[in-house]
Amino acid sequence: GKPIRVALLGCGTVGTEVVRLLTDQAADLTARVGAPVQVAGIAVRRPNKHREVPAELLTTDAEALVASDDVDVIVEVIGGIEPARTLLLSALRAGKSVVTANKALLAEHSAELFEASDASGADLYFEAAVAGAIPLLRPLRESLAGDRITRVMGIVNGTTNFILSGMDSTGASYAETLEEATRLGYAEADPTADVDGFDAASKAAILASLAFHSRVTAADVHREGIASVSAADIAAAKALGRTVKLLAICERVPIGGADDQTTADDGEGISVRVHPAMIPTSHPLASVHGAFNAVFVEADAAGEMMFYGQGAGGAPTASAVLGDLVAVARNRVHRGRGPRESAYAALPVRPMGQT
Ligand code: NDP
Ligand code: HSE
Repeated sequence: GKPIRVALLGCGTVGTEVVRLLTDQAADLTARVGAPVQVAGIAVRRPNKHREVPAELLTTDAEALVASDDVDVIVEVIGGIEPARTLLLSALRAGKSVVTANKALLAEHSAELFEASDASGADLYFEAAVAGAIPLLRPLRESLAGDRITRVMGIVNGTTNFILSGMDSTGASYAETLEEATRLGYAEADPTADVDGFDAASKAAILASLAFHSRVTAADVHREGIASVSAADIAAAKALGRTVKLLAICERVPIGGADDQTTADDGEGISVRVHPAMIPTSHPLASVHGAFNAVFVEADAAGEMMFYGQGAGGAPTASAVLGDLVAVARNRVHRGRGPRESAYAALPVRPMGQT
């Protein structure tokens, strides 16, 4: 088929790994999509810093790259609200598919982004925005669309989990572990977004919106970070057979009625919160260490499910971005038809008895 032309906006921790995977997996991606997936251009702030990508692909004019007739799909890994918001809105309005890892943007402006996507019919995919490599948003949006989700709860920030597990297991200091998390590419450009719980609150808003088919923004989330968690708190928890984790909790709750003055209506509402919690060391979340994330989902018919994997870092996040890129590219090539297993290259199966 005709090549799918991709504009990459941003080439930092995640973007660099996206380029690497696109290059390394080019042949497999062509088979899976049904057409070659090619990089049309890469927008960055400081082109001289980017020796790792071909110089002719680099530009500082992200707006012109998005508007180019030579571009079908936009992959946004800049982060922050502007210019990402304006760039993605103009892409969607022009009918270009969008893949983004930007949780801060989605947690504030999903309404206008979804409207622009619905109006033009252009895809908007954002699996990498929550829990890094872990397939979680598509299960919520698609696989569980026929069920009624009651609760989503877990560890959704790798940086704070890396800090808390470092302090718990090796007694390392808060400052040392934060520095290490930044060096490893886990922390946000401004790491206060991680330690003060803003990043987890954005993710909780996205999870609650999808799980409960509602509009929840970061401002609706009760937020408490880990800045006030001391080494003494962690030692005290340990003495009680507990460990401290930063949890995001999204659940359906009764709202209104005699005990609740907030609304006149009796009925159901949503509670979304992010805060440190002491959990028993026997709980499965207690064994989630480093930059790993884990999320429990409870639904009426399905019961309880657990999603676990790497929640931060360039390569794990790029894996989720590439999965979305394959999905939106395939939609463009096959007009919305799902995966086409007949297009897959057959690997030989080892005969029984051979090791
Ligand atoms: P980085 O800070 O490493 O990279 C940001 C990139 O955007 C840089 O290449 C920078 O250019 C470029 N950029 C910044 N401003 C502009 C602009 N105005 N126009 C064009 N390019 C610009 O961020 P990450 O790769 O870590 O994160 C990217 C996104 O992915 C964020 O939304 C983040 O929240 C999200 N994310 C990150 C994860 C991680 O583990 N790092 C995990 C999941 C999501 P230059 O290099 O020239 O300065
Ligand atoms: N800063 C984020 C984290 C990146 O530490 O979880 C992944 O979204």
